[in-house]
Amino acid sequence: MARKGTATVVGAGFYGSTTAQRLAEYDIFEKVVLTDIRDGWAEGLALDMNQSRPIEGFETELVGKTTTVDGAGYEVIAGSDVVVITAGLPRKPGMSRMDLLGVNGGIVRGVAENVARHAPDAVVVVVSNPLDEMTTLAQIASGFPHNRVIGQAGMLDTARFTYFVASELGVPVGSVKTLTLGSHGDTMVPVPSACTVDGTPLSDVMDPAKIEELVIRTRNGGAEVVALLKSGSAYYAPSAAAARMARAVAEDSGAVMPVCAWLSGEFGIDGVYLGVEAEIGRDGARKVFERNLTETELAGLREAGEAVKSKAADVASL
Ligand SMILES: NC(=O)c1ccc[n+]([C@@H]2O[C@H](COP(=O)([O-])OP(=O)(O)OC[C@H]3O[C@@H](n4cnc5c(N)ncnc54)[C@H](O)[C@@H]3O)[C@@H](O)[C@H]2O)c1
Repeated sequence: MARKGTATVVGAGFYGSTTAQRLAEYDIFEKVVLTDIRDGWAEGLALDMNQSRPIEGFETELVGKTTTVDGAGYEVIAGSDVVVITAGLPRKPGMSRMDLLGVNGGIVRGVAENVARHAPDAVVVVVSNPLDEMTTLAQIASGFPHNRVIGQAGMLDTARFTYFVASELGVPVGSVKTLTLGSHGDTMVPVPSACTVDGTPLSDVMDPAKIEELVIRTRNGGAEVVALLKSGSAYYAPSAAAARMARAVAEDSGAVMPVCAWLSGEFGIDGVYLGVEAEIGRDGARKVFERNLTETELAGLREAGEAVKSKAADVASL
């Protein structure tokens, strides 16, 4: 099989390192680069991951590199097709994602500027929180066209919802389709009209109170994991989602995925990054998919858009 291209993951913490390992195990890239500001950390992890290659049977080479905030070391990301930004602090129990705005804003701005300098043709996938705001900031700081900067949240929220429904009904996760749109947080918008179990509408097989309970659990899905871990946040499901997005970019697959993408008039919403379904390919979000939504779902999406917009001025000044 021909392997080609380079995927970079910036930030080699829990999220970044699991993303890098997943990307390498796809065995479709020539190279996966992992960077971090912790001296030697990315190099150490890349060495360890390369040693898993004979066991797992993949040839993609992992390259680790220590970088500095002023850009030293970033030459290693040159030619990247896709860059996943995971640099930034995770939540602690009791914190909201928005509590990370100031500190992660500084980190993401610096990273995005360095990415733009060294990988000017890349598609950027942002995962650092608060997600919608960090995606907005990464676009501003990189100066990339909006379609080439996307964020990961919707696929994770959707996967959590799917898992909760499947586990409640005792059916395989593969039988369940769910969808969440909106922002990654309090204004997440579940889309019951798009939820099915073996093709049957979810509302036919589960009562409304139970659906609502699972929606609330999904909305708080990240906090539930944080509370159990006590330090750090989720990374297995999140990294699966980011890696799939990066793969869709690399393969120019056109897969439709729930991602944080720029809206210019779709759903009557303009000029904001928000969780919607989009076709993902070599240019990032090629096209936003405008599914038919019920009035309640549409109102929820518009409300989420207003909530992200209300932070836009704060974000631009970070
Ligand atoms: N979007 C989502 O769905 C989602 C889900 C889970 C976590 N997250 C977010 O992802 C981020 C990372 O989470 P984590 O669990 O990997 O945290 P972590 O603390 O394990 O790792 C963060 C890493 O970023 C590195 N870093 C900090 N500043 C840097 C810089 N300027 N350049 C390069 N690296 C830098 C740190 O050294 C650390 O290794 C957090 O902001 C978290 O909230 C998002």
